[in-house]
Amino acid sequence: MYRKAKTRPRVFVTRAIAPEAIAKLRKHSIVEVWPRDTPPPYAELIRRAREVDAILAMVTDRIDAPLIASAPRLRVISNLAVGLDNIDVAAATAAGIAVGHTPEVLTDATADLAFALLMAAARRVAEGDREVRAGKWQTWGPAVLLGHDVYGATLGIIGWGQIGRAMARRGRGFNMRILYTSRATRDREAVSGATRVSMKRLLQRSDFVSLHVPLTPQTRHLIGPKELALMKPGAILINTARGPVIDQRALYRSLKAGKLGGAGLDVTDPEPIRADDPLLKLPNVVITPHIGSASHTSRNKMADIAIDNIIAVLEGRLPRFCANQEVVLRR
Ligand code: DGY
Repeated sequence: MYRKAKTRPRVFVTRAIAPEAIAKLRKHSIVEVWPRDTPPPYAELIRRAREVDAILAMVTDRIDAPLIASAPRLRVISNLAVGLDNIDVAAATAAGIAVGHTPEVLTDATADLAFALLMAAARRVAEGDREVRAGKWQTWGPAVLLGHDVYGATLGIIGWGQIGRAMARRGRGFNMRILYTSRATRDREAVSGATRVSMKRLLQRSDFVSLHVPLTPQTRHLIGPKELALMKPGAILINTARGPVIDQRALYRSLKAGKLGGAGLDVTDPEPIRADDPLLKLPNVVITPHIGSASHTSRNKMADIAIDNIIAVLEGRLPRFCANQEVVLRR
């Protein structure tokens, strides 16, 4: 049951999501959905946050300490994402606000996209497509668009969470040797044929390096000039985690100098990537617009969970997927 409120709880949803999920939420609350395809500006977000009990946010919404401080009745922030770097979780916890997120249901979709980027960068798929569309396909040629072998190569996975392990299983399907790094002190679920190594060793030995860590102060620019220099000449870097995990300027320099063989990026710093970013001039970089979890099934499941996370708090419980379990909910 809802706490004794004179009015129904109010929820602000910062972008249109699955209509079924919104309909379910409307049974429990008064729902307002931001009507545009682009995120609400920060000032608008603050204005809305002042008036609502719950916000259903996207990765593009900055839910920081000032916003939280100006939201007196806010009880839950529900992120339509597994990542939480857009939310000041500590400030939310201190204010008695639960933070929900949507892990598990996007694992396979994100790993699929990471592997798609790996294949695309290795075999120059986007580059070939651009040439065909530009009318540059003249003939079959023995040296046209030669790429890197994937089958049997070594795949280094940085971050051994659910998505990292799902990526490893895809690599095993291609008979790849899997190296990984993990912060966990005890090994999580094993993937046969995967070996835990130091970051240095992983960078030195891998033909492909794929990033699967959350963005935190510790992982910002985790891959910088030093790490790029350690990588094998011609290696390919894949990022479906968060843009700032890579020092993007250093990545550009490494690619431009011909040290790295290519990159497949679903995330950039900033997002969207600036139209004049020099990375866009390099043919051996494949960039997609942060679509790792963008399969129909994943996004519907994410919407369901995000809604359920809100309903739980409106009913006085913690969300099923709660990023701050220790929170004492404000009344
Ligand atoms: C996440 O879930 O963190 C993705 O980046 C958005 O789906």
